[in-house]
Amino acid sequence: MAQYTININNQTQTVEADNDTPLLWVLRDHLNLVGTKYGCGIGQCGACTVHIDGEAVRSCTRPISSIKGAITTIEGLSEKGDHPVQKAWKEHDVPQCGYCQVGQMMTAAAFLKKNPSPSDEEIQTAMNGNICRCGTYLRINKAVKTASKL
Ligand code: FES
Ligand code: FES
Repeated sequence: MAQYTININNQTQTVEADNDTPLLWVLRDHLNLVGTKYGCGIGQCGACTVHIDGEAVRSCTRPISSIKGAITTIEGLSEKGDHPVQKAWKEHDVPQCGYCQVGQMMTAAAFLKKNPSPSDEEIQTAMNGNICRCGTYLRINKAVKTASKL
């Protein structure tokens, strides 16, 4: 057990955890930030995606002891839930069961920061690693396009 001070959603938080505790469990169990979801636990599905210094990362594979940089979760993506990605997701009514969607939005938000005017192919490639069991891929890709114009 060790004490870690992390910057999360623009706040400093101190947590006690084992060195190898994945960031995902620190978020969900220690900080009650349960928007970030557990899917596979092995970095394959993208449900647990958060940002570290603006980069999309899979929090299930990042031990708390390795975390350097400011973490943003869906709860901190925008104050009022009005990030362009969130608006576009609503406009296209993207979610079905919803389980994968936070990871999808966090991946999309980090991607659009780097590439604000992506082509359809670039969107498809960027979103490719985020799995949706409900098959909402078409709506996801449309929403990313819409978000790029907002
Ligand atoms: S839960 Fe992290 S990638 Fe699947
Ligand atoms: S909306 Fe159900 S898994 Fe994606």
